[in-house]
Amino acid sequence: MVVSIASDHAGYELRQKVRKYLEEKGFEVLDGGAPNGTDSYSYVDAGIKVAEDVSSGKAERGIAICGTGIGISLVCNKYKGIRCALCTNEFMAKMSRQHNDAQILAFGERVVGLGVALGMIDAFFEEEFAGGRHATRVNGIKEIEEKHFK
Ligand code: RB5
Repeated sequence: MVVSIASDHAGYELRQKVRKYLEEKGFEVLDGGAPNGTDSYSYVDAGIKVAEDVSSGKAERGIAICGTGIGISLVCNKYKGIRCALCTNEFMAKMSRQHNDAQILAFGERVVGLGVALGMIDAFFEEEFAGGRHATRVNGIKEIEEKHFK
């Protein structure tokens, strides 16, 4: 599976470790965003990178990291068809797949440690969408997009 990962400067250090973890697990990683953790780099540009990779089909899933995860998740969710879940624990990451069919997992380097981040990633890639009544709800989100996205 191809996974796109990007961060701003505030998510840079965690992104390096996450990328290594994903590569060790056998994922093909498209890495983008801040080139280092010192120079300011907007979470908007990092979010665009992940959301475009996923919405174009270049990547099947994405991981988006900034300081809190808030800014970058807001950006990703501006893309039609993208469901980016901002998570702070494994349970949320699991549910983001089971109930919301999220394609992008977002979190913050200033919020979660490495252990929690990797636990969320494992849950995010292990869980499948449950469908059924949850599909009806996800379809409800798609209907909103049809009305409001040009
Ligand atoms: C950068 O300082 C910080 O604002 C950003 O990483 C993120 O937390 C925004 O939501």
